[in-house]
Amino acid sequence: MGKTILVTGGAGFIGNCFCKLILKERPDWKVVNVDCMTYAANPSTIKNEMNDPRYVFYREDIRRRDGIFAIFEKERPGIVVNFAAESHVDRSIENPGVFLETNILGTQVVMDACRMYGVERFHQVGTDEVYGDLPLDRPDLFFREDTPIRTSSPYSTSKAAADLLALAYHRTYGLPVTVSRCSNNYGPYQFPEKLIPLMINNATHDKPLPVYGEGLNVRDWLYVEDHCRGILSVLEKGKVGEVYNLGGHNEKSNIEIVKIILKELGKPESLITFVADRKGHDQRYAIDPSKAMADLGWQPTTMFKDGIRLTIAWYRENADWLDECTSGEYRNYYDKMYGKRSDK
Ligand code: NAD
Ligand code: TYD
Repeated sequence: MGKTILVTGGAGFIGNCFCKLILKERPDWKVVNVDCMTYAANPSTIKNEMNDPRYVFYREDIRRRDGIFAIFEKERPGIVVNFAAESHVDRSIENPGVFLETNILGTQVVMDACRMYGVERFHQVGTDEVYGDLPLDRPDLFFREDTPIRTSSPYSTSKAAADLLALAYHRTYGLPVTVSRCSNNYGPYQFPEKLIPLMINNATHDKPLPVYGEGLNVRDWLYVEDHCRGILSVLEKGKVGEVYNLGGHNEKSNIEIVKIILKELGKPESLITFVADRKGHDQRYAIDPSKAMADLGWQPTTMFKDGIRLTIAWYRENADWLDECTSGEYRNYYDKMYGKRSDK
C-alpha cells in the first residue's frame, strides 16, 4: 500500500470529486474521508466509494479535537487535505458564527493533529474570495498570489483566516503546508444553494430564477475535476510554504450563466426574476493561474461549453439526488433566503 491520504469534507461537492479522482488515479493510495455530514453532504454522494476497500469514512466534526486526534492515531495519514468548511456566502451573512468555528478553529484542530502525528503535507483548500473583488470596468486586473487579502463576507474572511493560520503553522512550527486558492467551481454533486445547481433545479421545475441585482457580477468558472487535478498537482509538485491560484480564465456574468442554462434546458427567459442584491456583493472574481501553470504544469482541460453540458446532463439524470437535497430543511432555507428578497 502506498500513501494514506486523509480528506476532510469528502462528502461535499469538491472533496468527493477529489476522493473519486484519487481512488481512480492513485491505485495504491488509501483514502480516509472525515466528514460530519452537514446539510451540504448527501449520503448518496459517497455511496459508490463506501464499497471500495481502499476507502474509509468517519463521521466526525473537525471542531472535535478528541475525535480528530483519535482518527489520526488510528490511520496515521501521510497527506491531509482540508476541504471541510461552511461554504455558502449567503448563509455566512445570516449566521457567521459557525463559519468562524468550522473554517478557522476546525482548521486549527486538523493542523494540530498533523503536528502531533507528523505528516508529509497539510494542504489547505482555499478560495479566490480572499482577495476581495475586482472592478467590472478593469478587465486587465486579475488576482495573483501576491494580491492583498481584502475580504468582503464572513465566509471569505473565515477562509482568509484559515489560509493565514496554515501559513503561520508552516513558518512557526515548520508544518509542511501548501495552500491553493480556486475560483468558482461547477459540476455534478454541487448543493443546489449555489448559483448553477440552484438555477438548473428551478428551471427544471419551471420556478422563477432569482438573479441578484442586475445579474452583472462576474465569476470565473472552473470545472470541479480540473480543480481537483490542480490540488493533486500541488501535492505532488508544489513547494511547501507556497500559495497557488487555480482558475481557467473563464469569466462570465451571472445573467450569461442563467441564460445558458435556460437555453440548454429549453426553458423561457421569462423565468428570470431580478431580486434584491446580496449584501456586500463582490463585483468580479478573476484568477491569474500562471504560477500553477508554470510551476506545476497544471492546466484546466474542460471547456465551459462542455462542462456545463455535462453538469446539466448529470442533474437531469440524477433527479433523485437533487430531490434528496431539496426535501425537508431545504424548503425552509429557500423560503427564508428568497422570501425576503422578492421581485425588484
Ligand atoms: P460543500 O459545502 O459542498 O462541502 C463541505 C463539506 O464539508 C460537506 O460535506 C460538509 O458536511 C463538510 N463539513 C462542514 N463542516 C464540517 C465540520 N465541522 N467537520 C467535518 N466536516 C464538515 O463545499 P465545497 O463547495 O465542496 O467546498 C469545499 C472546499 O473548497 C471549501 O473549503 C471551500 O471553501 C473551498 N472552495 C470552494 C469553491 C466552490 O466554488 N465551491 C471554490 C473555491 C474553494
Ligand atoms: P454563489 O454560487 O453563491 O457563489 P459565490 O458567491 O461564492 O461566488 O453565487 C455566484 C454568483 O451568483 C454570485 O454573484 C451571486 C449570484 N447568485 C444569484 O444571482 N442568485 C442566486 O440565487 C445565487 C445563489 C447566487
